[in-house]
Amino acid sequence: MSKPILIDEKKCIGCSLCVKDCPNSYLYLENKKAHTHETGCIECGHCYAVCPQGAVSMANYDNKEEPVVSMTELDSDTLLQAMRSRRTIRHFTKQPVEKEKLRKILEAGRYAPTGGNAQNVSYTVLGSRQKQAEKICVSLFRKGQELGSPFIDFLKRVKITDDFFFKGAPLVIVVSGKNKVNASLAAAYMEIMAESLGLGVLYSGFFTVCAKLSRRLRRLIKLPKGEEVVTCLIIGYPAVKYQRIVPRKALKVKKI
Ligand SMILES: Cc1cc2nc3c(=O)[nH]c(=O)nc-3n(C[C@H](O)[C@H](O)[C@H](O)COP(=O)(O)O)c2cc1C
Repeated sequence: MSKPILIDEKKCIGCSLCVKDCPNSYLYLENKKAHTHETGCIECGHCYAVCPQGAVSMANYDNKEEPVVSMTELDSDTLLQAMRSRRTIRHFTKQPVEKEKLRKILEAGRYAPTGGNAQNVSYTVLGSRQKQAEKICVSLFRKGQELGSPFIDFLKRVKITDDFFFKGAPLVIVVSGKNKVNASLAAAYMEIMAESLGLGVLYSGFFTVCAKLSRRLRRLIKLPKGEEVVTCLIIGYPAVKYQRIVPRKALKVKKI
């Protein structure tokens, strides 16, 4: 198998920045040139990104030169207030989400960090199967309501309408994987991107429960083998506007 990281010796100036930044000691310096070991690369691309000479390339990827944009270009006060102002959206207009916005949301997920750079998160846009998926979920929850209502008072009050799960939203993305943390981080990145595009988001824990319970649902959404549904993002243009930031519990922070 060819090596995942290639060093152009003509361009390498032996600065060792790549060696120092490699999390797995995959690179080393010899005769004032960077070299790679046989194993241990996780293809995180830090060597590619840090090289001042453009001497590193990644064999398994398209090496398109793209300039970096620092998060410091975002105003931190505005960002914090926007994060505090974010609300879960449960009422959506019927306006479809533009393809370009969907692309940006998925791209945000793709660039979320993953442990060991596993990049092991999958995304399923329900599309033509959205209605069918919702039907399965609604039927499951109605059965649950029937069983649970004699024991749990509030269950009696809940109206499980035909659009109880997706709230009439035009876009549903199921986020799945083998690693819950990786998939959750990807979802959080996606949510922030969606919000910045003027969209509203509802994380559906209810859908996750249904996916656990129903093999039919897992089949319908073509859940890859060995993966579990970690979360489901219901996305659309908000049909509700919030007027103020809500209070929160005090931070639980300790300095030790
Ligand atoms: C993992 C996760 C699952 C959630 N599942 C649901 C859900 O199934 N239905 C729902 O109405 N809200 C769901 N929510 C939204 C939470 O209820 C909401 O985040 C919380 O009440 C705080 O409101 P806020 O997001 O507007 O600050 C979920 C949120 C998260 C993070």
